[in-house]
Amino acid sequence: VAPLRLGLAGLGTVGIGVVRIMQTEAELIAARAGRPVVITAVSARDPSKNRDADLSGYAWESDPVALAQRDDIDVFVEVMGGHEGAAKAATEAALAAGKHVVTANKALLAHSGQSLAETAEANGLALRFEAAVAGGIPVIKALTEGLAGNRIKRVMGVMNGSCNYILTRMQAANLSYEAVFEEARALGYLEADPNLDVGGIDAGHKLSLLASIAFGTRVAFDQVELEGIGNVSIDDIRLAEDMGYRIKLLGVAQMTGRGLEQRMTPCLVPADSPLGQLQGGTNMVVLEGDSVGQIVLRGPGAGMGPTASAVMGDVIDIARGFRLPTFGIPAAQLVTCQSARAATP
Ligand code: NDP
Ligand code: HSE
Repeated sequence: VAPLRLGLAGLGTVGIGVVRIMQTEAELIAARAGRPVVITAVSARDPSKNRDADLSGYAWESDPVALAQRDDIDVFVEVMGGHEGAAKAATEAALAAGKHVVTANKALLAHSGQSLAETAEANGLALRFEAAVAGGIPVIKALTEGLAGNRIKRVMGVMNGSCNYILTRMQAANLSYEAVFEEARALGYLEADPNLDVGGIDAGHKLSLLASIAFGTRVAFDQVELEGIGNVSIDDIRLAEDMGYRIKLLGVAQMTGRGLEQRMTPCLVPADSPLGQLQGGTNMVVLEGDSVGQIVLRGPGAGMGPTASAVMGDVIDIARGFRLPTFGIPAAQLVTCQSARAATP
């Protein structure tokens, strides 16, 4: 059987995680995929960087757009990041060149998911993004496959590990926001632009993607009510604790009589609840369906292994001959929904 050939754009945390799984689990992946899966070519900015991985068997492309268009790849794996520039250009080039796409890039999907999905589906291609939401937790597959027979009533959860780390560390060590922010930055937990994390933007991107799948609506990141954690003080945390609560950056998406409500804001949750107990960089997503009731998914929302695990799940889905459209129903059928927030007097 012909191998499925990957072009890997990005050799940072996630990209090297993908290389490692591909190199150590080739047989397992081939068995699960029903055919061998190989990396043909890779791309990153700096060809001389030591990446602690053997990349000698792969062709090098310094331009990710050129990588996306190579004749010897079937799937373009985009793990560079950024919602415009190289990531967007290369993803569009890949779809135009007839390549399936797997991406971990929530920012790109939150801004351009509709047009990318329409292009992919018009060309009979897969566009998969399991790694983009809650890292290693297979929440997109849970919504699009396991819960496909449900009318989803609500999606909520903690979807940014860095914010959860900052809030739990402030609470446990009685430290100020500023002190823990600097600690998190020194530990490398924050995005290069930390406002994506602490401003709630990264988590808002993720919530908007889940809402689209859950409610059959076009991705509406611009309608997410966003408030980050920058104004949460240690006094707020102590006061909440005195009343039996913890403060979490909590996302909630639900369909109301006024339209789609999407909020990503600091919230009080009972200290002894599963959300209140959530520690460090862990994510938790709660899904509520009319038939199934409530499902709670908890696990690593980031990191090399967990995120690469989600990327590989998507790659194997494509090797098996994927069936599902990007957001669970065809992109052309996703509806534009009024925002509950805009409708509020
Ligand atoms: P890194 O910053 O570790 O790696 C980014 C990689 O992309 C680097 O290898 C970089 O090259 C390469 N790159 C960036 N811009 C270009 C460009 N213009 N041309 C060619 N190569 C480029 O990022 P991560 O691996 O952490 O994240 C990648 C994606 O995955 C992002 O979208 C992120 O949001 C998402 N993600 C990350 C998670 C994580 O835990 N890290 C979790 C879930 C999603 P070079 O190395 O030469 O600089
Ligand atoms: N910055 C993100 C987080 C990475 O802290 O959750 C994973 O998407």
